[in-house]
Amino acid sequence: MANYQWKHADELKATAKAMVADYKGILAADESNNTATKRLEEVGITSSEEARRQYRKLLFNAPDVDNYISGVILYDETIKQSDDNGTPFPELLKGRGIIPGIKVDTGAKPLAGSPNEKVTEGLDGLRERLAEYYNMGARFSKWRAVITIGDDMPTQQCMEANAHALARYSALCQENGLVPMVEPEVMINGDHDIDTCEEITEDNLRIVFDELFRHNVMLEGVVLKTSMVISGLDAPKRAGVQEVADRTVSTLQRVVPPALGGVVFLSGGQGDVEATQHLDAMNKKFKDQVPWRLTFSYARALQNPALATWGSDMSNTEQAQKNFGFRAKLNSLASMGEYSEDMESKVA
Ligand code: G3H
Repeated sequence: MANYQWKHADELKATAKAMVADYKGILAADESNNTATKRLEEVGITSSEEARRQYRKLLFNAPDVDNYISGVILYDETIKQSDDNGTPFPELLKGRGIIPGIKVDTGAKPLAGSPNEKVTEGLDGLRERLAEYYNMGARFSKWRAVITIGDDMPTQQCMEANAHALARYSALCQENGLVPMVEPEVMINGDHDIDTCEEITEDNLRIVFDELFRHNVMLEGVVLKTSMVISGLDAPKRAGVQEVADRTVSTLQRVVPPALGGVVFLSGGQGDVEATQHLDAMNKKFKDQVPWRLTFSYARALQNPALATWGSDMSNTEQAQKNFGFRAKLNSLASMGEYSEDMESKVA
């Protein structure tokens, strides 16, 4: 059974293609209320439904970002919120030519039988939720699995349980006209070296694509959101930019089918500039050799400077928007291999 049972095949392919259009990538603004609260409090802002709305409004109205951002991943609270003039956020984004997306997993919970690992939940009632989100304007969605590197981790059990859920999620998304953004994140936390990260990323992606195949998921209508092959944050000697780029792309080349709609990266705790450098190095060297676009789907690495500015002066939305637009622009260039570090010195 191949792809052709999907009644939304054309729409899914078109959406996936638009998500990874040249010079564009995705803004992840789908922090759960807990994560959003943590991020706001870190910069001294008290989190509330209204504070979160104000912050997302700032991002979604930032001038010029429609040149760099193809889609935005929203959270359940956010997709139901509106601009000050009553325009629902999905409509506002659509009006700017930006595709609304929605995070649909309900979080990573301890995995029974291996409680130091996590399995992502959210399949119950998902078909109905996807239909509702589609009616609200969402055309893609995200599900994040968490794979932790540590003593005797990850287990096969953890990788298989998460891959199975990712595949069931993906099939349900495609049935309902939404492109699944499949995110099996290998966490950067730990002191592991880049070899370990490479081995685990490859094993895990192999398991994920096996399951997608088993569940008749149409790969042209899938976007993979992956972590890079990178040293752990506490590794004694961390690999440099070109090595991260080389190892990441060669790992993808070994396991990711050419038919896939596109590849986007999470920033996962990398520094803002580092995340841009890695993306640029991959595209400078491999853009014309790989069958998929390699672009960004960052949350922190796009938002950090904007959030810091807003935290120090909530009335200064203009500068916060400029900071967001600046990182979006540099990552847009990196997605084509056209970034250079001297651009960082130009004040946003
Ligand atoms: O699921 C993770 C987010 O979509 C990406 O966030 O770029 O801060 O890792 P990040």
